[in-house]
Amino acid sequence: HKNFIIAIDGFSSCGKSTVAKALAKELNYIFIDSGAMYRAVTLYFLRHAISLDDKPAIVEALANIHIDFIPSTEKTQILLNGEDVSEEIRQMHVSNMVSEVSAIKEVRTAMVAQQQQLGKTKHIVMDGRDIGTTVFPDANLKIFMTASPSVRAERRFAELAAKGESTTMEEVVANLAHRDHIDSTREESPLRQAEDAIVLDNSDLTQEEQLRFVIDEVQKAK
Ligand code: C5P
Repeated sequence: HKNFIIAIDGFSSCGKSTVAKALAKELNYIFIDSGAMYRAVTLYFLRHAISLDDKPAIVEALANIHIDFIPSTEKTQILLNGEDVSEEIRQMHVSNMVSEVSAIKEVRTAMVAQQQQLGKTKHIVMDGRDIGTTVFPDANLKIFMTASPSVRAERRFAELAAKGESTTMEEVVANLAHRDHIDSTREESPLRQAEDAIVLDNSDLTQEEQLRFVIDEVQKAK
């Protein structure tokens, strides 16, 4: 790639976007949260009561969905047809359905095309599940992040609690397990570690240490 592309994949709540954001800031690259795109599609489906086995309705909906990212040093906004949905896509009703939506072939084809487009002109850090395997199989650097299940659940719970969302630890654990299962067993580009990905287990690492680790890998890949 003439633009430097960094793919960060892994299970839910492994801290991918935290590292990806910090890395993008450090390198002055564009950060793209591919999960936010699937979440925005899910929100659209929920709002329009699109049934997940109604293929024609899905295809029509996808043609009407336009997703934009407004980069900022503070917080990247995600726009769904011009509306800022950055907060709403993190809510539990979206999390509970996003993996089912993401498993639909037509949805993936549309999102992957948009993601590849974003990497054509800019240096990017993109996080997701299939970035190193499907979206950018020839990415300049691939990181596969893991963390222990309890660390992941605690992080996600704290994140939701900080936003004032009422949820229980049990609900969070169930949602993570549910999404991991669907994400890794679906037919269309399941979550897998790319062969040439570097594993980063951050269960016991500070954000500072994780950033240092990936920056080190970027230097080696350059
Ligand atoms: O990254 P995040 O947890 O926000 O992603 C939400 C969901 O979107 C994941 O559980 C997964 O089902 C889906 N996803 C995906 N492919 C990606 C990114 C996210 O299928 N590249």
